[in-house]
Amino acid sequence: MNTIMVTGGAGFIGSNFVHHVIATTTADVVVLDKFTYAASRTSLDGLPARRLRIVDGDICDAGLVDSLVASVDAVVHFAAESHNDNSLHDPSPFVQTNLIGTFTLLEAVRRHGRRFHHVSTDEVYGDLELDDPARFTENTPYNPSSPYSSTKAGSDLLVRAWVRSFGVEATLSNCSNNYGPFQHVEKFIPRQITNLIDGVRPKLYGAGLNVRDWIHAEDHSSAVLTILTRGRIGETYLIGADGERDNLTILKALLAIFGRDSDWYDPVPDRPGHDLRYAIDSSKLRAELGWVPQRPDVEAGLADTVRWYRENESWWRSDKAATEARYEAQGQA
Ligand code: NAD
Ligand code: DAU
Repeated sequence: MNTIMVTGGAGFIGSNFVHHVIATTTADVVVLDKFTYAASRTSLDGLPARRLRIVDGDICDAGLVDSLVASVDAVVHFAAESHNDNSLHDPSPFVQTNLIGTFTLLEAVRRHGRRFHHVSTDEVYGDLELDDPARFTENTPYNPSSPYSSTKAGSDLLVRAWVRSFGVEATLSNCSNNYGPFQHVEKFIPRQITNLIDGVRPKLYGAGLNVRDWIHAEDHSSAVLTILTRGRIGETYLIGADGERDNLTILKALLAIFGRDSDWYDPVPDRPGHDLRYAIDSSKLRAELGWVPQRPDVEAGLADTVRWYRENESWWRSDKAATEARYEAQGQA
């Protein structure tokens, strides 16, 4: 592949993926990003200009999407409205971007016969009980809980239908919770890290017993590139790195890094419909494509991530006050 278009390439995981592609392949990259509140141009700073083109545009813009898709070999589709809490307060952009945007891209790759990889989430499977030893597999039935996860589930089904009905050459991946550099301060880990940097008590939803399966964004990137280059067309691959932790455990690890007492946090009202537990069985990806996560140590990854937010305050500072004001308006501050 000479040129890969990355939708949402100025967001958290998309920008990590662009860095990974430029560092590990010879492909050029075209980023298509609407530059919503979640995007940051500086996440792409320092990359070679001759290998990277950045287009400020909407994946729902059929004319723009058509001309860009015609000019590339493959599309890796990260662009989405991604935050559950926002989707509970205004689902409308989630329906527009996650469903209509994916539809618009699919129609373009169908017209031009281009390879497509769809990036999705484990949340499409709903949640597991805390005491259930089961993990999600590619055969787990869809059962999404929030406006965010239901629009992602709908987008997955569109991709599957375009493969079957129109022969579109697509693969899909559903990944667990990512953490690492360039993650917006609205999300759990960066919200608490930046609160702690500011000397503000972290905010925990409910009792903090909900479990997430954490993976470093670099490992998500290498998995997506592996599936793009070697995955079987029409297949779905689950991506995870065996990083299950409950929220209180993550929070206590952060408090320890900052030298704070383990009870130095504020419980705040829980998220409505809050999924209990996510857990990924990524055996198919590992057995079939030989993928192995390089950063499975969550505690070491958290320490690196704290260091990154400490050293890159200019990257996040301008978003912090507005994000906390939004949480305050929602009663979660
Ligand atoms: P993010 O919110 O950080 O970034 C999303 C990017 O998409 C932003 O740059 C935004 O400007 C762009 N975007 C939004 N609407 C757009 C539109 N209409 N047209 C063009 N660009 C648009 O999200 P993220 O956390 O990096 O997630 C990226 C993808 O990975 C999403 O599809 C998400 O569902 C999926 N995913 C995320 C996680 C996670 O833990 N964050 C886990 C599994 C899967
Ligand atoms: O599982 C993959 C999903 O992970 C992705 O599809 C989503 O795009 C991504 O945002 C993430 O969803 P979550 O809702 O799990 O992530 P979030 O960072 O919002 O919250 C993680 C957990 O922390 C969740 O149980 C809610 C809790 N939480 C969150 C915030 C913001 C808190 O306890 N306090 C907080 O302040």
